[in-house]
Amino acid sequence: MGLYGARIAGVGHYAPERIVSNADFEKMFDTSDEWIVSRTGMKERRYSPDDVASSDLATRAAKHALERAGLAADEIDCFIVATVTPDYLFPATACIVASNLKQAGKPAFDIEIACSGFIYGLPIAASFVRSGVFHRVMIIGVETLSKIINMEDRGSAILFGDGAGATIVERVAAADDCFLACELGADGSNPKLLYQPAGGSREPSSIAAIEQRRDKVHMEGREIFKVAVNRMVETAKVVLERAQLTPADVKWLIPHQANLRIIEAAAKRLHVERDRTVINIEKYGNTSSASIPMALSELIGRGSLHDGDVILFTGFGGGLSWGSIVWRWAA
Ligand SMILES: CC(C)(COP(=O)(O)OP(=O)(O)OC[C@H]1O[C@@H](n2cnc3c(N)ncnc32)[C@H](O)[C@@H]1OP(=O)(O)O)[C@@H](O)C(=O)NCCC(=O)NCCS
Repeated sequence: MGLYGARIAGVGHYAPERIVSNADFEKMFDTSDEWIVSRTGMKERRYSPDDVASSDLATRAAKHALERAGLAADEIDCFIVATVTPDYLFPATACIVASNLKQAGKPAFDIEIACSGFIYGLPIAASFVRSGVFHRVMIIGVETLSKIINMEDRGSAILFGDGAGATIVERVAAADDCFLACELGADGSNPKLLYQPAGGSREPSSIAAIEQRRDKVHMEGREIFKVAVNRMVETAKVVLERAQLTPADVKWLIPHQANLRIIEAAAKRLHVERDRTVINIEKYGNTSSASIPMALSELIGRGSLHDGDVILFTGFGGGLSWGSIVWRWAA
């Protein structure tokens, strides 16, 4: 426990308007709505216009979160963005978002841990406020994955979409702490399971890299599938035990939205029924670090989250990386 406690004061999200359906993919390559729905649960995803970057989506989600929290941007002390699709490799997208919100001068930085961005980002934000370093921290998961999709790889092209989810974490008394437990992990021994080969220091961008589409997402889906379910379930069990809770105490399971079959397998092994599992994958596909905060924001929008509800967040992604958090909702 820290000097103080942490609670979530507001959550918002934003998704670009353009809808890309499974039928749209049927026109681009050899696939079918039936294959995509049965293998992934996805029906639609959102793509950003060419002139829209991650900071634009993040700023919209941030404003939504501020509005819901009844806070002004100048009441946020630090801005963190989790993304694998930053505006630029550097500077950090968070710096741009803070300036968009007229908060230039405030601390702002990015974390890059792929689809585990929110699972890592929420504990970082909570630790800042629990230790007294900041009063309020905004953590935004945002992706414009449409910009790095390899349309020549039908196995991965169908999966990804764009979106942003913003969460404001604020200091409360230690006795009112909502951050009950977290367990995080990573294994970089095979980064090529899910990665963007070119554009970094291992393989700087080149004409050959672009011609071979090495500047886009590459993925070994079947391998990731197996690891994902195991890691989500393992860490979820650890955090529940640490918080001295059982699956029956969980009001809402909010998993990373990567694949409906992964979500269903994890939920089944955790003994959490479908009506307690938050799923919006059919509308947005996999939005990486944005998926969990977007799902949380939609749950709040439906009026389904109540004071005292226990939330189990669980996710995994490139790295590989994974983790789970148990959080008590305080209205
Ligand atoms: C990608 C994924 C949906 C593929 O499903 P799968 O059941 O593992 O399918 P496979 O990759 O084994 O491919 C099975 C067949 O379908 C084909 N296929 C792949 N994509 C297809 C598509 N969009 N439409 C039609 N057929 C497709 C393959 O070519 C393969 O054909 P073959 O047997 O003739 O070689 C699944 O592996 C998955 O979701 N993995 C996790 C990926 C993930 O979550 N990544 C993000 C992590 S945050």
